Amino acid sequence: MVPLILSGNANPKLAAEIAQNLGKSLGKVEIVRFADSECRVRVEEEVEEKDVFLIQSLSDPVDEHLMELLLMGDAVKRGEARKIIAVLPYHGYARQDRIHREGECLSSAVVAKLIESVGIDKLITVELHNENILGFFKIPVIHLSGLSIFRPLVEEIKNDVVIVTPDAGALKRSQKFAEGLDMPLALIEKKRDLDHPHKIVSMRVVGDVTNKTAIIVDDVIVTGGTLVNAAHLLKQKGAKQVIACATHADFVGGADKILQDSPVDKVWVTDTIPVAQELQFPKLKILSIASTIASQINKMIK
Ligand code: R5P
Repeated sequence: MVPLILSGNANPKLAAEIAQNLGKSLGKVEIVRFADSECRVRVEEEVEEKDVFLIQSLSDPVDEHLMELLLMGDAVKRGEARKIIAVLPYHGYARQDRIHREGECLSSAVVAKLIESVGIDKLITVELHNENILGFFKIPVIHLSGLSIFRPLVEEIKNDVVIVTPDAGALKRSQKFAEGLDMPLALIEKKRDLDHPHKIVSMRVVGDVTNKTAIIVDDVIVTGGTLVNAAHLLKQKGAKQVIACATHADFVGGADKILQDSPVDKVWVTDTIPVAQELQFPKLKILSIASTIASQINKMIK
């Protein structure tokens, strides 16, 4: 069975690398953006009876990228593809996985319904903020870990390493990472101000980080606030080096400067979201997720 790999506009470079890893090139898709911001999608390939993989990160601008995915899904469904598999290296809206205050929407559930509504049969995604959102899908979801990519770099450090979870929500992920490396774990308790987006109210370290290299493990970096506050605290508690590993670099403007000027010594991310040249900084290292995703696709097309 010959699969067809298509990409939206979110991360065509990563999509091309995934296709290249599979010994293929990307199929042609025309995506037109009209002056009033509406989008029109046309798949310029024969899709009938093919397994079609749609690669699209739901990154900034999230709603545009989501809409492109939905329209690509509809186009290949109408073309009578055999199976449609959405590949979301970054799953936007995944952090809105529960209702915190009365009157809020449940965005992750809405996005799951939208994805299913156009006839997508299966989803592959990487490092979800919270695995609970898998329950919002009726279709099968393959959830890949992005953090495993950082293992060899962490193993190189060898001595006096402690893995740090930046908040209670990230505990399961960090625990798994620490256990896989047979390394100790410390926890940071973080409290957010729900009335002010991105604002952290307080933080406290639980565990021993003195004279250690503290590796903070997170799913995503946005403003850099979580990491910078954590790094200040870890250095105050005696950590000799702080390295941040996060699968998704969902950087907003200014995150580059905040991180570069902070006590974080190194920042390691993957390329699930492309990092614009102007948001890159000397402490940043970007590792490719292409082979992880390609090997999953390879298993499915054999
Ligand atoms: C929050 O629960 C997430 O796992 C990240 O820690 C958070 O979204 C990072 O955002 P920022 O870089 O703005 O602190």
